[in-house]
Amino acid sequence: MFASLFVVMLGLCFCSKGNSQSTLGRPRLISPSEALVNSFVDFHCDIELSPANETVLFQLFKKDNRDRLLGEYTSLNGEVAVIPQVIKQFHEGYLECVAKVQNNSNIEPTISYTHYLKVIEPVSGARIILRSSQDFFEGETLKLSCEHTAGNHVSYKWLLNGQLVSPSPLHNVADKNLFISRTTLKDSGSYMCVATNHFNTTNIFTANSSEYQITFKERVSIPDISFTVLKEDSQTFSAKVTCRSTKGTPPVTFSVYNTTELVANVTVNERNATFKVPLVLGRDLGWLHCQASNGDQIEHSQRIPLKVVPVGGPVRMSYDYDVENYAVIGVRFYCRSANGSLPQYRWFLNKTLLRDRGSFYLVVNQSPEQSILLLSVGRSSAGTYHCDVSDSFDSNSSISSNELYLDKKLLNRLPVLVVAVVFGSFTCLIVLVSICCLVGTIFKRRQFGGNSLLCLEMKGLADAYEDELDPSEYNDDADFVKAAGGVELDQASGASSDEWPPIEEEEPLEDEPVEGP
Ligand SMILES: *[C@@H]1O[C@H](CO)[C@@H](O)[C@H](O)[C@H]1NC(C)=O
Ligand SMILES: *[C@@H]1O[C@H](CO)[C@@H](O)[C@H](O)[C@H]1NC(C)=O
Ligand SMILES: *[C@@H]1O[C@H](CO)[C@@H](O)[C@H](O)[C@H]1NC(C)=O
Ligand SMILES: *[C@@H]1O[C@H](CO)[C@@H](O)[C@H](O)[C@H]1NC(C)=O
Ligand SMILES: *[C@@H]1O[C@H](CO)[C@@H](O)[C@H](O)[C@H]1NC(C)=O
Ligand SMILES: *[C@@H]1O[C@H](CO)[C@@H](O)[C@H](O)[C@H]1NC(C)=O
Ligand SMILES: *[C@@H]1O[C@H](CO)[C@@H](O)[C@H](O)[C@H]1NC(C)=O
Ligand SMILES: *[C@@H]1O[C@H](CO)[C@@H](O)[C@H](O)[C@H]1NC(C)=O
Repeated sequence: MFASLFVVMLGLCFCSKGNSQSTLGRPRLISPSEALVNSFVDFHCDIELSPANETVLFQLFKKDNRDRLLGEYTSLNGEVAVIPQVIKQFHEGYLECVAKVQNNSNIEPTISYTHYLKVIEPVSGARIILRSSQDFFEGETLKLSCEHTAGNHVSYKWLLNGQLVSPSPLHNVADKNLFISRTTLKDSGSYMCVATNHFNTTNIFTANSSEYQITFKERVSIPDISFTVLKEDSQTFSAKVTCRSTKGTPPVTFSVYNTTELVANVTVNERNATFKVPLVLGRDLGWLHCQASNGDQIEHSQRIPLKVVPVGGPVRMSYDYDVENYAVIGVRFYCRSANGSLPQYRWFLNKTLLRDRGSFYLVVNQSPEQSILLLSVGRSSAGTYHCDVSDSFDSNSSISSNELYLDKKLLNRLPVLVVAVVFGSFTCLIVLVSICCLVGTIFKRRQFGGNSLLCLEMKGLADAYEDELDPSEYNDDADFVKAAGGVELDQASGASSDEWPPIEEEEPLEDEPVEGP
């Protein structure tokens, strides 16, 4: 019993001794967790209980890549293996150490736990690459990226004019990219990216890009087109066509087209350009339009016809007037020319030019069709009036109208006269009608016993007269304005006192200044 126990003990003892020789403990890999690229690093590997009198081979591998041996060390006497390495980018990742007992295939090799190595390459050669359009129009998205020639584990910062670009809903900093959506003129400036990485927190590497200047532009707005006429000499004229945009960052390229055909183009440092185009008066020279562009988009103006008709035909002056309390308070003269697309009107009193406004008159030029002269009636407004019309580009072309004479006394007297005449006529008529009716009644009693047809007609006439009697509407040929020199005068019809602007408020026959409408 004791003997058998001893044998078992001995057997166990032998057994454990045999075990210790046929297995190998797990090796331990010791190395820094980060390393600079191209630096020398010693990887250490050992086994806690190294087997006695066995040669152990330590080998360094990347995990999952046993084909590529990084380095090895033969440990003869259980000393710690030292495997030196010049660190390259490929070292980054999980490393492990494999321990094998040499010349004893009975003992299985063992593998260490994996150890992660981060390899740092200092960043350098940073530069900005534009990933969006080069036109830099406001409203568009700007995409910049920060590239570098070397470096890993890099973080990025963006500076605009030396100030950090902080993220916002419109400013997105993602990895090495900067996206600015809906750019404005304020996003203009000098951009720089700063790429940074670090080793062991104490060694910080930065690479600054060079400054990248970006100036955002405003897109050119739809241009306006207009033209004026230039007189080159007595026979030749030209049109000075102006194209003008209200917005847009110069330089702007303007072009003028005749329907679809390019007439001229020019690039200017302004928002307007002028072109000279030959012009034949009275001739239809097609439809012109402008195009404006300061980038990839082209804006088109409206089309205008290039046709200039010189003034011509009779120039006529007409008038109407307003009456208040049986007195004429204001007169309106109209001047019209039969032809002319660019007429210029002038008014004269006693052959003296009346400029825009004076103490008793106001010139109203609202349309090329006619010019209006508003007069308050008074001492100073008496005299002989006329107008003339010329081409605005050629003062030699002037044509004069008929002359009209305006006299304050005549004006004064007139309404009284008018009233007297009207009342006189009316009284006459009533008397006539009464007589008629009387006669008619007698006649009818004698013949038909009813109203005579004649009497009815006369009554109707009288009613009509009564309607017309409102003196303010009385607008028959008035003789306070006389055609000077016996010229037939035109009177504007359909005029009503509602049209009177401020003159209406004035005291009649006072020489007060005329207020503008
Ligand atoms: C190891 O080898 C030495 C001589 O080289 C020897 O004296 C010793 O007994 C050996 N030990 C074992 C455990 O084999
Ligand atoms: C192991 O075997 C090799 C040859 O296979 C021999 O050269 C070497 O000396 C042996 N090493 C030991 C420690 O026995
Ligand atoms: C990291 O820095 C610490 C001290 O700051 C130093 O003790 C350590 O050795 C450094 N590690 C490497 C890998 O250089
Ligand atoms: C890079 O830019 C930063 C911030 O503007 C500055 O502090 C640093 O000196 C610059 N470095 C180089 C090398 O220009
Ligand atoms: C301007 O006109 C020239 C020819 O006269 C043409 O070559 C050029 O492309 C035009 N430029 C634009 C912007 O239209
Ligand atoms: C543009 O307009 C400005 C002022 O309106 C004027 O001074 C300038 O001469 C114009 N330029 C051209 C090219 O017509
Ligand atoms: C425009 O084109 C028409 C027809 O081709 C031509 O008669 C006219 O002279 C042109 N106008 C200009 C300003 O070039
Ligand atoms: C214009 O001439 C007439 C005489 O023809 C004169 O009565 C009137 O005062 C003159 N008016 C002015 C404003 O000179």
